[in-house]
Amino acid sequence: MDFGFTEEQLMIQDVARRIAQEKIAPSAEHHDRTGDFPLENMRTLGENGLMGIEVPAEYGGAGMDPISYVLAMVEVAAADAAHSTIMSVNNSLFCNGILKFGTEEQKQLYVRAIAEGREIGAFALTEPQSGSDATAMRCKAAKQADGTFVVNGKKSWITSGPVAKYIVLFAVTDAEKGARGITAFMIDTTREGFHRGKTEPKLGIRASATCEIEFTDYVVRADEVLGQEGEGFKIAMSVLDAGRIGIASQAIGIARAAYEATIEYVKERKAFGQPIGAFQMTQAKIADMKCKLDAATLLTLRAAWQKHQFDNGGARFSNEAAIAKLVASEAAMWITHQALQIHGGMGYSKEMPIERYFRDAKITEIYEGTSEIQRLVIARNETGLR
Ligand code: CAA
Repeated sequence: MDFGFTEEQLMIQDVARRIAQEKIAPSAEHHDRTGDFPLENMRTLGENGLMGIEVPAEYGGAGMDPISYVLAMVEVAAADAAHSTIMSVNNSLFCNGILKFGTEEQKQLYVRAIAEGREIGAFALTEPQSGSDATAMRCKAAKQADGTFVVNGKKSWITSGPVAKYIVLFAVTDAEKGARGITAFMIDTTREGFHRGKTEPKLGIRASATCEIEFTDYVVRADEVLGQEGEGFKIAMSVLDAGRIGIASQAIGIARAAYEATIEYVKERKAFGQPIGAFQMTQAKIADMKCKLDAATLLTLRAAWQKHQFDNGGARFSNEAAIAKLVASEAAMWITHQALQIHGGMGYSKEMPIERYFRDAKITEIYEGTSEIQRLVIARNETGLR
């Protein structure tokens, strides 16, 4: 048991913190207000190894471990949650899945482009009628005699959908087989048959572009199948295990930013002749914020540690990832709520970033599995009952 970080882990944390503070934080308010996609900043993150943190150097990544990923994500999320959403989809949902299930050619083509920050990736599982119940998807990929597949259907809430060059798509290849009738495919968005809907107006993470996508007779070649035919649902679930560590890290970053701003504020702001931090009601809030932040951080680092064991032949980390995501996202919502309450009118004003942290925190309880789904995963793992 060692609570310290290695020199390499501290180095990547330092790189992420520097970019986050010098490049991302100064433009966070602009990106939130306008919803402009931060392409230039994403390229900078990619050039510094932060778009493929766990990707081996031979595929253009930084070749680091999951703990490094958590540390870097927290720094970026503390500066701006929207940037960290794009970063997490590229790292966890895109690169991670192809590294684990892709062929050598797929790794060289897709992973390299995203890890080096030249392109943006996306992950298309959700549909208008299928969110938490992912096996209820309707998007179909019909196999042809020549081994190609023809895709028809819609996917919704696709993070980075408006800008992604490549997308990991999940579609039904055998409707009779339920979860075992879903296959994963690599999509090139420049090809015929791929369409984008309007960019969604959102409460938070506004610069992380999200849209519906549609396929009309889009042809996928046999060498663009990811993993085995019928293996898609398992790929989606196992990739989401890693993704949930990313979202937990994002939640910690948002919560930490709100917490640190609050510590400064309670020392400066005076009421009834003393700093508001001297009042016991404020102190109780501060203590509870700190406890929740530390608990979320430790659980997320535990999940990352377990993922590292899994990557090296150890046991699955689904439960640890679900626990980390559940605790961290609910902590972020609670901490940003308290931060806003303590800041009073200033917290409600767009003059300060507190209201942005509050809006950004909410999504962490929704995407990559709602809090209700995390509780379901945890309870199923704990009891063995379904
Ligand atoms: N790893 C590997 N395999 C897994 C797995 C995991 N974590 N979880 C389940 N599986 C396997 C099961 O072992 C089972 O395999 P067999 O058929 O061989 O038995 C198969 O998958 C089906 O599993 P279940 O019967 O448990 O499936 P289910 O229909 O009951 O669903 C669920 C389980 C937990 C509810 C799942 O549907 C789920 O996690 N839903 C939430 C989906 C989600 O997170 N969506 C987020 C959208 S993506 C997003 O938000 C990205 C973004 O834009 C940022």
